[in-house]
Amino acid sequence: MSLRFDFNNMFDFSVSEHGVSRQDIDTFLPQARKAAEHLKKIISEPRARIKLNLEWAKLPEQKEEDIAAIIKIARQIAQKYENVLFLGIGGSYLGLKAAQDALCPPYYNEFKSLRKKAPRVYFEGNNLDPDTLSVLLKNLNPKKTFVVVISKSGETTETKAAFVLAEAWLKKSAGARYGRQILAITDPESGSLRKKVQAERGKDSLSFRTLPLLKGVGGRFSEFNMGLLHLAIVGVDIRKLFLGAREMAQRCAQEDILKNPAYLYAVLHFILYQKKAKSLAILMPFSQTLKSTADWYVQLLAESLGKKYHRQVQLDKDGVENWLADKNDLFNRGRTPISAAGTNDLHSIQQNNIEGENNKVVTFMRVEKFKTDLKIPGKGDLLSGKSYCQLMQLAQEATEWALVDQKRPNCTVIIPEVSAYHWGALLFFFEMATAFEGELLNVNAFDQPGVEGYKNYMYYKLGKPGISQAITEEIKNKPLIKKPEYVL
Ligand code: PA5
Repeated sequence: MSLRFDFNNMFDFSVSEHGVSRQDIDTFLPQARKAAEHLKKIISEPRARIKLNLEWAKLPEQKEEDIAAIIKIARQIAQKYENVLFLGIGGSYLGLKAAQDALCPPYYNEFKSLRKKAPRVYFEGNNLDPDTLSVLLKNLNPKKTFVVVISKSGETTETKAAFVLAEAWLKKSAGARYGRQILAITDPESGSLRKKVQAERGKDSLSFRTLPLLKGVGGRFSEFNMGLLHLAIVGVDIRKLFLGAREMAQRCAQEDILKNPAYLYAVLHFILYQKKAKSLAILMPFSQTLKSTADWYVQLLAESLGKKYHRQVQLDKDGVENWLADKNDLFNRGRTPISAAGTNDLHSIQQNNIEGENNKVVTFMRVEKFKTDLKIPGKGDLLSGKSYCQLMQLAQEATEWALVDQKRPNCTVIIPEVSAYHWGALLFFFEMATAFEGELLNVNAFDQPGVEGYKNYMYYKLGKPGISQAITEEIKNKPLIKKPEYVL
């Protein structure tokens, strides 16, 4: 069984004037085919793929020896330590957290029987809130804790700050050999984390073990690279994950747009965005374990498609494409993703989905078979004898019906079960759909220049050397206005 995609409720025959018509699709197909050809060309060309950050498309094809090497390191860590503390933010965190919640049992850290001898795992370095990290550093035993720091750039403030603290904490307990309790996943050549790794390994070759991030893979597209160690530590079968991702890659390579799930998903959303002003993307898994996958998708969609400028394609001297922001072609658009969960958020955001502005498309994730089921005991009550799975599926169907009844477009990804195989397929599907929508929108889906604004401001205020004159002037000349009468 494979993932299935139900797009019926995206069409006018389900939601009238708020849906896509067959004519809309036919009119749009030539443009979609062109976009598909372009994407295919880039992906088939190693130089372009790496240069433009599309190497993620090849990650499911990683070599067996690389997978085996990661599993070996993971086993060494898992056998020796009770806790593993992962430090990272954005793409260096969300994929791992999504995998943890989807593929490990709920309450994994709480119950030894669920972990099956694997260590407890904690995620930090994804915030500057001192109240969370300090609890861990006060309560975990540093002698029994291994730290994995993940940062592609090796420069990100949140992760760096947490790592400096974690390092000092380990050092205090382990002394000079503390580096043997650290593994860094970072760019193979650049960044201060890579420099640190090289310096520490020079002093003690067993310390600061490292795994490289592959070239041409951006943070949010990198779960199949930077997330592998985590998966192996908690005992997820990476090979099955890749099998699922590869099956999906094949499905998403089909040229017929109407048969290609990622392309059709992107085309339908694109038309609804352009023609019907559906600018909000609500991702609603009907499974508590997929809520973090929805959060992962929020980053994927927001950073990939929310852009100020259109893309300008140029060729370099070797004939390889360069993508620049076309400063003469202001875009300032991109669908806004929101993650919600069925059934909790049926008592929250769903009211707005149904009766608020009709400017949204809901994507459901429906699980066909849960790992367990619960039968409600008793007799005579409406719920007596009903199973949780049955109720969950009915709730999803009911939500779909309620949306259609109010002419609200939606679609459903049907997941046979939340296994490594299907989760790998799911991630690849969303990655390809996002990349394809980037083509349709003509934006660079693989950068995130908008994230720099807050970083620049912080660096300026922190006195970081090397900030450009232009940025310095901009910050100086445009201070935040704080009129006392408006601070109540
Ligand atoms: O998608 C991206 O590339 C970003 O969101 C990064 O993942 C995020 O900013 C963290 O960066 P880094 O891994 O360099 O610390």
